[in-house]
Amino acid sequence: MEKLIIFDTTLRDGEQSPGASLNNKEKLEIAHQLVSMGVDIIEAGFPIASRGDFEAVQSVSKFVKGPVICGLARSLKKDIDAAYEAVRRAKRPRIHVFLATSKIHMKYKLKKAEGEIVKAAVWAVKYAKSKVSDIEFSPEDASRTEKSFLFEVLREVIDAGATTVNIPDTVGYSTPYEFGNLIKEIRENVPNINKAVISVHCHNDLGLGVSNSLVAAINGARQIECTINGIGERAGNASLEEIVMAIRTRKDIFEFDTGIDTTKLYKTSRLVSKLTGIPVQPNKAIVGKNAFSHEAGIHQDGLLKMKSTYEIMKPEDVGFGETKLVLGKHSGRHAFKARLKKLGFVLSDEDLDKAFRRFKDLADKKKEIFDEDLATLVEDEIGMAVPETYRLVSFKALSGNEVSPEATVRLKKKQKILSGTSKGDGPVDACYKAVEKITGIKGKLIDYQLRAVTRGKDALGEVSVRFASKGKEVSARGASTDVIEASLKAYIAAINKLVHIK
Ligand code: KIV
Ligand code: ZN
Repeated sequence: MEKLIIFDTTLRDGEQSPGASLNNKEKLEIAHQLVSMGVDIIEAGFPIASRGDFEAVQSVSKFVKGPVICGLARSLKKDIDAAYEAVRRAKRPRIHVFLATSKIHMKYKLKKAEGEIVKAAVWAVKYAKSKVSDIEFSPEDASRTEKSFLFEVLREVIDAGATTVNIPDTVGYSTPYEFGNLIKEIRENVPNINKAVISVHCHNDLGLGVSNSLVAAINGARQIECTINGIGERAGNASLEEIVMAIRTRKDIFEFDTGIDTTKLYKTSRLVSKLTGIPVQPNKAIVGKNAFSHEAGIHQDGLLKMKSTYEIMKPEDVGFGETKLVLGKHSGRHAFKARLKKLGFVLSDEDLDKAFRRFKDLADKKKEIFDEDLATLVEDEIGMAVPETYRLVSFKALSGNEVSPEATVRLKKKQKILSGTSKGDGPVDACYKAVEKITGIKGKLIDYQLRAVTRGKDALGEVSVRFASKGKEVSARGASTDVIEASLKAYIAAINKLVHIK
């Protein structure tokens, strides 16, 4: 299988998303994550744009090892000098020069004739080539450029030393059929095209960035420029995760592969979203929060029988965790029963019918039903309390700013009193560790919330915990006027649920 070069421009075009500006440290953090994911080329910035961007590209070149590190430059001496200074410390530096070639850009933006454009592009490529050997040239707005002129520019820049020629659909105007044909025609009409890699850079103004990139690859492009979460100028760029997963999922039609470790996609998406401040829409393909969530009863039923009925990719392949069956008014009995089982409730058919009716009533009032709602529904409404394998007998917790917190907890199991003592980061932590010693159940406290149920100093405190152990996740609550006791009760209730599931 041929390999497709993944050129990530999250740190350059992605950073051009309004409000997405990244500092040096943030760019480095993202760059390291891109390396761990296996991207081939990182376009780290546009060094002439600002002092900060120059320094960020310089840091990435210095500290990020593995991929080619690229800096963008207009076809101007000062830009190329800045790009060279910024990337020269990289083991494999690349300078990416661009110049617009469409009639509309040449006439109104650059005010230059075709001959002048060819001359400037050739000069820029030669000048950049005198500094580094790896040169990419982009005829900006290529998809709206007159074809004969585009072929001429490409031929000239390859002769001048460009090793990659990038075909940008700068304003996201092209359509898949048209763009695929353009790449094919470039291969047929640029005589020296085999001396350079054909790259594509598709914007998403019509939502066609990914489709255009893929069809370009089918027609011979071997480098795709893309960004994490599809961020970038205006409507953004082709999204890296969508391209990579389309190629992986449809091996039957794509005769090439990428070197991307897809299990890192979700984490990378989260990181980029956090550092740029641009949220990922819930229904975003591959990395959206709903990408692997199913609500319709028919779908949930199918999934429980065979995942591939409604899932074309495994969530774990993109590092997402697991398929989520969202319980709402569209859900069916099958999914409801499966979720209850996971929470530790195994009901008789009669109780299940009762609980399911109440669940549907609740779902009409509430958009999404969480595990806590289900537990309350079953415990309070059906009276199906989980057996109390462990019961709190007493506890003593020591805390203060001059002592190290310590707790002794006594639990009753059958007729036996079991006792455990532990230190901890605080009194609650010490109590939880003491319980862990007694029960031997180790796990992860995923969530802990304390709220006052009533008003005043003597308010009843209610603690909700979510606890996971050996792939099972449970939630439980406990209430008391003493918050440590409420915390213990919630934790012990969670442990009892886990024991019950087992
Ligand atoms: O969209 C575009 O044309 C660009 C070029 C600089 C490659 O970002
Ligand atoms: Zn762009």
